[in-house]
Amino acid sequence: MYRTHNNGELRAENNNTKVTLSGWVQKIRDKGFMVWVDLRDRYGITQLIFDEERTPKEVMDKASQLGREFVIQVTGTVIERESKNPNIPTGDIEILVSEVIVLNTSLTPPFTIEDNTDGGEDLRMKYRYLDLRRKPVRNNLVFRHKVTMAVRNYLSEKDFVEVETPYLIKSTPEGARDFVVPSRMNEGQFYALPQSPQTFKQLLMVGGMDKYFQIVKCFRDEDLRADRQPEFTQIDCEMAFVEQEDILNTFEGLTKHLLKEINGVDVEKFPRMTYDEAMRRYGNDKPDIRFGMEFGELNDVAQHKDFKVFNSAELVVGIAIPGGNQYSRKEIDKLIDWVKRPQIGALGMVYVKCNEDGSYKSSVDKFYDQEDLAKWAEATGAQAGDLICVLSGEANKTRAQLSALRMEMAERLELRKVDEFAPLWVIDFPLLEWDEETNRYHAMHHPFTSPKPGQMELLKTNPGAVKANAYDLVLNGNEIGGGSIRIHDKEVQSKMFDYLGFTPEEAIAQFGFLMDAFQYGAPPHGGIAFGLDRLVAILGGQETIRDFIAFPKNNAGRDVMIDAPAPIDEQQLNELNLNITIKD
Ligand code: AMO
Repeated sequence: MYRTHNNGELRAENNNTKVTLSGWVQKIRDKGFMVWVDLRDRYGITQLIFDEERTPKEVMDKASQLGREFVIQVTGTVIERESKNPNIPTGDIEILVSEVIVLNTSLTPPFTIEDNTDGGEDLRMKYRYLDLRRKPVRNNLVFRHKVTMAVRNYLSEKDFVEVETPYLIKSTPEGARDFVVPSRMNEGQFYALPQSPQTFKQLLMVGGMDKYFQIVKCFRDEDLRADRQPEFTQIDCEMAFVEQEDILNTFEGLTKHLLKEINGVDVEKFPRMTYDEAMRRYGNDKPDIRFGMEFGELNDVAQHKDFKVFNSAELVVGIAIPGGNQYSRKEIDKLIDWVKRPQIGALGMVYVKCNEDGSYKSSVDKFYDQEDLAKWAEATGAQAGDLICVLSGEANKTRAQLSALRMEMAERLELRKVDEFAPLWVIDFPLLEWDEETNRYHAMHHPFTSPKPGQMELLKTNPGAVKANAYDLVLNGNEIGGGSIRIHDKEVQSKMFDYLGFTPEEAIAQFGFLMDAFQYGAPPHGGIAFGLDRLVAILGGQETIRDFIAFPKNNAGRDVMIDAPAPIDEQQLNELNLNITIKD
């Protein structure tokens, strides 16, 4: 038997019992006549003591040869510690060791395996298995497990059935590129890894499954960010015989349950906001509503004076930064430089200092008097002591720029509190989105999303104005889920493909199976998918999903531990009929 107890469970009431423990050597303090070792496993740390006077000599000798991260098994007696450590649950006791077995030795680890490590990100990724021994990393994975279990239990209780769908499929468009897998048995043909199980879950509804969910890997070849991985996990859900209201209520229920169960937080009914309103008030379709700084549109009060920049702009819009009146000229200049960085792309920024005495001082005093500026203050909700920042230009771009500034200022002012949760449904998304690159409309969500009733005709006359039965769930400024009510009629679906620029042949080649299925009594249906990695990270008070994934990829999409992707040998290439010449 390797152990009678784990390293997190012994207490003073175990004093004088004989125990056997196993684990890793975290720390050694060797005074010659006495050696202390911190023994670690997943459950905690227990202090071992080797004492010249009470420990057999051969065991004493072995103790002096231990090294960090050796795997050992010890037998000894639980005794009361002389100097207690209130910071760990086992801090009242230690183990007076009588036997020690080295189960495995270890090289010196490349970074310290402590809560605060000296290892940089790259090194920790390369030796992820060592990083996993650190408590913060391990805790994140345990936390993820808890969330996943809570999701499974909740949905199962509500009659959802978890069904697995295949990974080797044909393209399911979700707006990213596919990862493809060559087929050895079908020369020149490829599978695509699913960007989501979208079409399969719809077929499960045609198949009468009624309520489906799956905690499932999805694969998307897209540029990576803190909240994006090339393979990530969805809580994918679909229901038959539902309207949008049913879906929102069901998954609001799930999210509320998680917030209560995991974070102990009660949230009242989630607010809802249309996409148009979110864009107008926050310049963003996933607004963080934990704090204000709402947009004030200033076209009416700032145009038609002599300031040409504003007069020629489609949109003039500002936010009030609380307490910003105190910023020095230098600080404001830095802020202007910040919005002018290429990542943000503003051409400049106009500002108004709202003085404590009710007067205003702006960077455009030449063009606007106190009365004008008072109107700006009113529109942006600025109070005495605030700084109004104003951007202008093409509406969509300007909104995006000001939204970036709003989030940056909230971060700097520490308004994004990790223990505060502000969920929000964003509804009535546009069905289509203009794509500058291809110069045409694309499905904003995916091509299976239904337009709002009676809007199909608008597609011909004003496609950009067509709204969809599509919704996102936003939590603290992050899109944690998205879904829609689907098209379940073959004719409507083929019209949609036609509209999106698929020829009938292409539509049949790619999605014929779905349209065929729709001819055999497809029920009305809809669903949603949550990004599990994002959800877990946010419930855990963070935004970097990598920290909640056991073996994540880096920003170049590489797994630096196993060194993937990697070339494959010539024989394998030949078998796959991939006649590629390998470059040295
Ligand atoms: P969507 O594309 O919005 O919808 O994806 C659903 C949720 O998945 C998460 N997500 C990601 N998380 C990490 N890394 C990524 N690369 C990544 N991409 C997306 C987001 C997002 O809200 N089939 C539809 C759902 C439906 O219509 O039911 C879909 O996949 O949190």
